Amino acid sequence: MLCDPRFCLTPCGTRRKKIVDHFPHVEVPLPTPSKDEVLIKLEAASLNPFDWKILHYVGTDIAGEVIEVGRSVRKFKPGDKVVALVSPFSGGGLAEFAVAKESITASRPSETSASESASLPVAGLTALQAITKTIGIKLDGSGERKNVLITAASGGVGHYAIQLAKLGNTHVTATCGARNIELVKSLGADEVIDYKTPDGAALKSPSGKKYDAVIHCAVGFPWSTFEPNLTLNGKVVDITPSSASMLTFALKKITFSKKQLVPLFLLPKSEDLQYLIDLVKEGKLKTVLDSKYPLTKAEDAWAKSIDGHATGKIIIEF
Ligand SMILES: NC(=O)c1ccc[n+]([C@@H]2O[C@H](COP(=O)([O-])OP(=O)(O)OC[C@H]3O[C@@H](n4cnc5c(N)ncnc54)[C@H](OP(=O)(O)O)[C@@H]3O)[C@@H](O)[C@H]2O)c1
Repeated sequence: MLCDPRFCLTPCGTRRKKIVDHFPHVEVPLPTPSKDEVLIKLEAASLNPFDWKILHYVGTDIAGEVIEVGRSVRKFKPGDKVVALVSPFSGGGLAEFAVAKESITASRPSETSASESASLPVAGLTALQAITKTIGIKLDGSGERKNVLITAASGGVGHYAIQLAKLGNTHVTATCGARNIELVKSLGADEVIDYKTPDGAALKSPSGKKYDAVIHCAVGFPWSTFEPNLTLNGKVVDITPSSASMLTFALKKITFSKKQLVPLFLLPKSEDLQYLIDLVKEGKLKTVLDSKYPLTKAEDAWAKSIDGHATGKIIIEF
């Protein structure tokens, strides 16, 4: 049976109803890859908040085996193990088979499991983009040592961001709930703040450090909370931008403010995905798995993601 939420167009009422209505188990024809696509038989997929925020197009992060390739595909052949990011505009990654563009598919060595690989695309690429491209940290550790705050460091993006930042010889302060403090330390955070304490709410570093950059993976927090914690040229990379933060971004730009807020929107690239896979293979990046569900229990995985309290990644296995 193929479960393909692309074909679910049921208008939703309550949140609970959305969960149920978005998982019809339907038989659909096997998709044919277009010339630049690969058809993948899935072994695992991971969920992101993006899936339930966008709705209707569930499932972008997948790992599996190539079974057919389009005529212009050069990098892959049937039998190759891969990880891919299915287009968020088409979705359909919660099905036994899915098509993905060659340009955002990467090879997966036998050392990396399907679950761990499927965890990487959205969360890992977002963390990588924030750290290397937006903040400018060099992951070989050769750059100037920066002091970085990562909010919601126990989540999908945050737990990768800690590890990548540490590869770049960064001092990391992290926020998370009390239950995850030891985990977040074990991933490399130098200082951890419980977000439910007054210092957590104020994003204050326990050692009094100011931040050169903040990777903001939690939601909320006005500019007035970030501002006093930033160095003179400090930058907030906001991966959960709201209309208020977009306004702050514009204001900081037009007033030539040294402190900036930068909204981040993921621009996925297969070479970056390959880079992350290689880090996993070398043992330099690990995935914390919150939970695993079979495809038949996808709605439970979906509910867990909506709940907003995952530690690491939620996986669906096929
Ligand atoms: N802009 C982009 O391109 C892009 C890309 C990827 C993700 N995102 C967005 O980034 C956000 C994070 O994604 P994710 O996959 O990392 O989410 P996630 O895995 O669902 O995050 C859940 C974690 O966040 C923690 N948390 C929640 N509120 C917190 C707070 N105020 N302070 C500290 N920790 C908090 C939770 O801890 P407790 O359980 O202890 O509460 C939980 O461990 C989402 O809103 C997502 O939509 C944007």
